[in-house]
Amino acid sequence: MRYLSIQTSKKISKIGLGTWQFGSREWGYGQAYAGSEARAIVRRAIDLGVTLFDTAEVYGFGRSERILGQALGEDLESIFLATKILPVWPISPVVQQRAVASANRLGARMLDLYQVHAPNPAVRDGTIMRGMRALQRTGLVDEVGVSNYSLRRWRAAEAALGSRVLSNQVQYSLARRSPEADLIPYAREQGRLVIAYSPLAQGLLSGKYHQDNRPANRVRANNPLFLPENLERASGLLAKLREVADAHSATPAQIALAWAIHDQAVVAIPGASNVAQIESNAAAADIELTDDEHGALSAAADRFQPVTGPAARTQIMRQRLQRR
Ligand SMILES: NC(=O)c1ccc[n+]([C@@H]2O[C@H](COP(=O)([O-])OP(=O)(O)OC[C@H]3O[C@@H](n4cnc5c(N)ncnc54)[C@H](OP(=O)(O)O)[C@@H]3O)[C@@H](O)[C@H]2O)c1
Repeated sequence: MRYLSIQTSKKISKIGLGTWQFGSREWGYGQAYAGSEARAIVRRAIDLGVTLFDTAEVYGFGRSERILGQALGEDLESIFLATKILPVWPISPVVQQRAVASANRLGARMLDLYQVHAPNPAVRDGTIMRGMRALQRTGLVDEVGVSNYSLRRWRAAEAALGSRVLSNQVQYSLARRSPEADLIPYAREQGRLVIAYSPLAQGLLSGKYHQDNRPANRVRANNPLFLPENLERASGLLAKLREVADAHSATPAQIALAWAIHDQAVVAIPGASNVAQIESNAAAADIELTDDEHGALSAAADRFQPVTGPAARTQIMRQRLQRR
């Protein structure tokens, strides 16, 4: 495993574990997964040197935090624990009460990273950051982070907090490269961090899905990347991933992760549906892509132009009606 060089109280692994899947109906992994596989994934992640664990109060309506906390047990003290608040009513007393509730579900004395899950469109960050400052003062929260923030708003959040907002958790993968324009350069220059979510494009970049093998769960039924037309359009990118994977005796998923964490300021938090996947994902931290390989993958990603926007939404709606 490799770790970040940024100064934090606990070390942060380049590959972490995302836990939206834990206890969330929309992923459809079922009871056996929530009851035992999720715990086995966490325990194996710790064995492999993963220190970054990401959850949120909203995942499974608190179930993800509970499952993660129970699986971590005493290791809570040594790993870098990240959770998120959905800022529906972001006044300071509510922010503080929600942090306490998350910490209780996790069984944690402290949240290493407390992130605003998404910007509130109606309320500026001065309001929520008052609550974050209070939480840092009492010691319940160490670092503050944001998620799904533009650069402008990330900087505004820092100004409102009056100190660093360590990280911005955003969607980043070979299928979604917009953070390269400004967020990643900012993080690199300022000693901040981009946490890449959906770094495997929810499994698309593993190469196992195609027109005749499409994932069935609700999350991916609503993700335009899994429309038959987009699976077809992704074939060139997947072929390049396979080619680079062969050269490293690795899998396309591992190469997709190695590409995502290539920049020093980026870490990735893939989810996992079984123990073999966390083993594969953790090992990806040690794959070093050459500049040529990185460039060739980026060029293949440029050529992947999925159907998006209203056209994609229409196709998703049509499929939903056909399934009835
Ligand atoms: N801040 C936000 O707004 C936000 C939004 C989304 C996610 N997140 C966070 O980011 C985490 C990861 O994102 P995500 O779950 O959306 O997408 P992801 O990590 O790109 O995809 C996860 C899925 O890919 C498949 N997979 C994982 N490892 C694999 C491997 N080695 N080989 C083949 N397939 C593999 C698994 O699905 P199958 O085995 O079923 O194919 C797994 O459930 C979440 O758990 C959550 O913590 C945050």
